[in-house]
Amino acid sequence: MNNIIRTEHAAKSYKSGEITTTALKDVSLEILQGSFTCIIGPSGHGKSTLMHLIGGLDRPTDGKVYIGDVEISRIPNSDLARLRGKRVGFVFQFFNLMQGLTAIENVEIAMMLAGVPDREQRVRAVKLLALVGLAEKAGAKPGQLSGGQQQRVAIARALANDPDILLMDEPTGNLDSVAEAEVLDLLQTLHRQGKTVVIVTHSDEVAKRAERIIRVKDGLVAH
Ligand SMILES: Nc1ncnc2c1ncn2[C@@H]1O[C@H](COP(=O)(O)OP(=O)(O)O)[C@@H](O)[C@H]1O
Ligand SMILES: [Mg+2]
Repeated sequence: MNNIIRTEHAAKSYKSGEITTTALKDVSLEILQGSFTCIIGPSGHGKSTLMHLIGGLDRPTDGKVYIGDVEISRIPNSDLARLRGKRVGFVFQFFNLMQGLTAIENVEIAMMLAGVPDREQRVRAVKLLALVGLAEKAGAKPGQLSGGQQQRVAIARALANDPDILLMDEPTGNLDSVAEAEVLDLLQTLHRQGKTVVIVTHSDEVAKRAERIIRVKDGLVAH
């Protein structure tokens, strides 16, 4: 099996005025293609920062980050945005759906940003909503959906451009246990289909399903 994600001595500090916060100190890790990994650890210890770095949403202040053979910490912003759009799907704790758009429009907009032709957008969005079990809710706005349903729309949106990597930051943090189980079943299906799944979580239920657990503490990964 190949590594799909790799960091070498990745570090991240945030500077605001006089104050520098070091969120990640020195993280070297490898994630295998097709694997299902959970990142756990106390609040404020650098989990989200690590997820942002490996997905190319942010850059390390030191060290290197690779997706496949590409050192994403070095490539220009425009190349990074393109690579991220093609290869990485993100899901967040608070769903981050556009409230004024319907479920299907929320999925389509991700394709629009990637330049998928209009007609193809609709066809693919219908398939993705069916995959997440929400074919009947295509015309509903987020406010008309339960938390679990909204998160499944967010997962459909993350899959819009058929990424091979799914990165999720506490995706079940706002869900009850029934909705959490539904989302986890869906993630397991996607994992079986070959996606690389990385989830930041506080949930034991999520961690139980992982093949591997990475512990983040004080900006470091415990090996
Ligand atoms: N954009 C930011 N600006 C300043 N400090 C930040 C920023 N993002 C995170 N931090 C700080 O970095 C540390 C790690 O944060 P984070 O990665 O969000 O931790 P976790 O996800 O484990 O709760 C915390 O001290 C947090 O306050
Ligand atoms: Mg976090």
